Amino acid sequence: MALLEIRGLTKRFGGLVAVNNVDLSIERGEIRGIIGPNGAGKTTLFNLVSGALSPTSGTITFDGKVVSGRKPSHIARAGLVRTFQRNALFPTYTVLENVMLSRHTQTDESLLKAILGTDRRDEEKNLARCREIIEFLELSQYENDLAENLSHGHQRILGIANALAVEPKLIMLDEPVAGMNPTETAMVTDHIRRMRDDWNMTVVLVEHDMRTVMETCEYISVINFGELLTEGTPDEVSENPEVIEAYLGSEELEL
Ligand SMILES: Nc1ncnc2c1ncn2[C@@H]1O[C@H](COP(=O)(O)OP(=O)(O)OP(=O)(O)O)[C@@H](O)[C@H]1O
Ligand SMILES: [Mg+2]
Repeated sequence: MALLEIRGLTKRFGGLVAVNNVDLSIERGEIRGIIGPNGAGKTTLFNLVSGALSPTSGTITFDGKVVSGRKPSHIARAGLVRTFQRNALFPTYTVLENVMLSRHTQTDESLLKAILGTDRRDEEKNLARCREIIEFLELSQYENDLAENLSHGHQRILGIANALAVEPKLIMLDEPVAGMNPTETAMVTDHIRRMRDDWNMTVVLVEHDMRTVMETCEYISVINFGELLTEGTPDEVSENPEVIEAYLGSEELEL
């Protein structure tokens, strides 16, 4: 069975069907791209999978267990986390504090312990692991800087660090390179590959930057008007007339 299995997933907002009967299977160790025009339903799909929204119908199975309808903290503990299209940081805390806080708050577990400092040995382990994550994402030199003082690119990378703090098996990245310059984009692309290659993670990437998607993902699912339009390799998808049609009139597709 695939690591993430989505069957017949539907989300209605009143009369609008934002996600319509979507089936998706993501295998362990994949870097999967999800693309589609603005408003296609990509972020809603992430919100459903991460538990921020409950589906109208359909099931989501992660690592062999049904997670649809469960709370985000439960789903995070199961090993599935997402980053946000707009950053969700603790702006007045340092980089290291952000990663430590995320480790506790997203899984609901030992926040009280962390505050009271009762379990010192655990906290030392947590601290070491958070530093490892920060180093992995090349943020060590900013460890003691406040999140709000980082550059846009580094704030986005801190968003990824906060997600990694939960030790996910699968990470969903919502437009990780949006607003980044080419150097920052290349850095994030490299981090994504290393997350998979060195840390054995599965990555699902929603991104409008086609170059990043085409270079990073082995397989791409295309969503249009809430429905799965097609799936294939970057070459197959970029040559598919239906995909080109879906993007016509939008300036996003520069293949
Ligand atoms: N909480 C909500 N209530 C009502 N409608 C919503 C809600 N969230 C999203 N929508 C609508 O659902 C549709 C899909 O939105 P969504 O944000 O998932 O698209 P997207 O593919 O992520 O777009 P973008 O590429 O612009 O980020 C849009 O029409 C949007 O307005
Ligand atoms: Mg979106």
